Amino acid sequence: MSGKNWDRVPIDAQSIDAPLSMAAVFLVVTVANEASTLAKVCSVLDGLDDLVKTVGFRDLSGRLSCIAGIGRALWDRLRQDKRPKELKPFAPIQGAVHAAPATPGDLLFHIRSERPDLCFEFERILLDSLGDGVTMVDEVSGFRYFDARDLLGFVDGTANPTGLDLPASALVGDEDDDFAGGSYVVVQKYLHDLRAWKQTPTPVQEEIIGRTKIDNIEIDDDDAPRKSHKSLATITDADGNEYDILRDNMPFGRPGHQEFGTYFIGYSRYLWVIEKMLQRMYVGDPPGAYDRLLDFSTPHTGATFFAPTRSTLQMLVQAAPEK
Ligand code: HEM
Repeated sequence: MSGKNWDRVPIDAQSIDAPLSMAAVFLVVTVANEASTLAKVCSVLDGLDDLVKTVGFRDLSGRLSCIAGIGRALWDRLRQDKRPKELKPFAPIQGAVHAAPATPGDLLFHIRSERPDLCFEFERILLDSLGDGVTMVDEVSGFRYFDARDLLGFVDGTANPTGLDLPASALVGDEDDDFAGGSYVVVQKYLHDLRAWKQTPTPVQEEIIGRTKIDNIEIDDDDAPRKSHKSLATITDADGNEYDILRDNMPFGRPGHQEFGTYFIGYSRYLWVIEKMLQRMYVGDPPGAYDRLLDFSTPHTGATFFAPTRSTLQMLVQAAPEK
């Protein structure tokens, strides 16, 4: 894996396997229609790796990394002939009780570092170079909360794939040769009703999540009347193979505004896996038995992107038409 030199040199742009961090910024922007704007965006994406070096080298222990994801509409403006097989806009879901909306997004930037100031500096220079042709749809600064807890108080990220399972779950393989090594990325910004959550007894919270709260032990809910979040998000095929995704959720919030959130970000080799997780969460299994996490957590955004490898990204932006 590319991580072996990360103590000596900045982390290559588009490293999906960059370390989980203390801080992260999630930026979603749209790109105006003018050819000159597209040209500028292409040149910024072309220089993304250099920008990570420029800022990241100032403190290597800060482990700055950045992944750019491209939405379907922008992809089609850049290149009409070839696109990742599954890339399409986020499909909104209407469950009986809860809905997942689709919101605009041409580009996603997932910026991670041990230091919030490195994320800030990188974002500042990035947006400066993108200029006025891009419109900010959503900007969220997340932080690591104690032992990787979400603001509901549960440890979040435990079941992430590790070792060789990480690329096998998160990176496209030879099923789509042109885009091997890239990843589908889905983001959703959730806001929590913490007042209602706090009034929910801890054992009920634990049934909803599928793990114990203090010590993070998995709860077997095979015979429970309602499946937990953990079980609804577990995807298996007819042969019993499990399909994981790589999550790097981050809490964010402004207590003074009663804003408490989780920024969900999932990287997957197959887009259908995340879509199936969402279907099971919102529609339920069996239908109607939806994820009760949603009674306390409302998605305000929903967007799908493809994060190509560094070299594919460079080829894509260098070959873009009508610059
Ligand atoms: C409010 C938003 C969310 C919160 C607070 C949340 C929190 C959690 C927590 C605490 C766990 C258990 C520990 C772990 O394995 O990480 C978990 C597991 C998981 N979540 Fe979420 N989650 C959220 C949204 C989502 C969404 C939208 C998806 C997928 C589309 C998802 C997919 C998963 C998966 C795949 C697991 C691991 C299941 C397993 O044990 O194999 N989560 N989540």
